Amino acid sequence: MSTVKRPIIAIDGPAGSGKSTTARLVAEKLHLMHIDTGAMYRAVALKMLKHGVELTDKEQLQKLLDSTMVTQKESADGLRILLDSVDVTDDIRTPEISLWVGPVSEHPVVREHLVKWQRELGQAGGVVLEGRDIGTVVFPDADLKIFLIADVHVRALRRRKEMLARGIDQPVEEVEDALAARDERDSTREYSPLRKADDAAEVDTTHMTIGDQVDAIVKLALKLGSK
Ligand code: DC
Repeated sequence: MSTVKRPIIAIDGPAGSGKSTTARLVAEKLHLMHIDTGAMYRAVALKMLKHGVELTDKEQLQKLLDSTMVTQKESADGLRILLDSVDVTDDIRTPEISLWVGPVSEHPVVREHLVKWQRELGQAGGVVLEGRDIGTVVFPDADLKIFLIADVHVRALRRRKEMLARGIDQPVEEVEDALAARDERDSTREYSPLRKADDAAEVDTTHMTIGDQVDAIVKLALKLGSK
């Protein structure tokens, strides 16, 4: 990358399309910082649940957001997510949080707050951000925008494997139904729905390995320098 030294790379797509692993490896290869924005929504959802804050209580919600800090830490086994300095990496990936994060991430107060955090984190560049609205809302001028897609059954199989590795055994049919419901919810919501930015490169990962996905994106990123 000769001219775009500290690029902003946006990777968006539905749940289970391989965003997290791909973003982590692309960031590693290009020596950039990986930011998992979905984990931020999950951490906020977890804190609301713990503190019994309802989505209808705007005042409490704003108070909670103002006193919350979500940070990330690189570790040998991947990105660790810290909520107010406590490691919640595993706690935010339970089926309960996966359900609850839907309505939480739709709330305009939550979105406004988290988009601000994400812009602050990414504005200096040198980042790979993954999420649903990075290329459309958070960084519409990102240097490279990728939209990952994959067949829902293949995504369910991948998600189940990840969950099994964390000791959660959920039948694949249930995982698939939950993913399809989240796709629907994420793409039809009023604020920042999941959609491909007009200038994003679509990568269908149904028949690709993680290695293929990473190589394809790294190749596109390396071309940025010669633009
Ligand atoms: O990628 P994930 O499954 O960890 O995302 C968790 C939830 O957060 C999911 O319901 C979509 C939402 N999300 C969002 O609305 N905007 C983002 N930039 C990232 C995630």
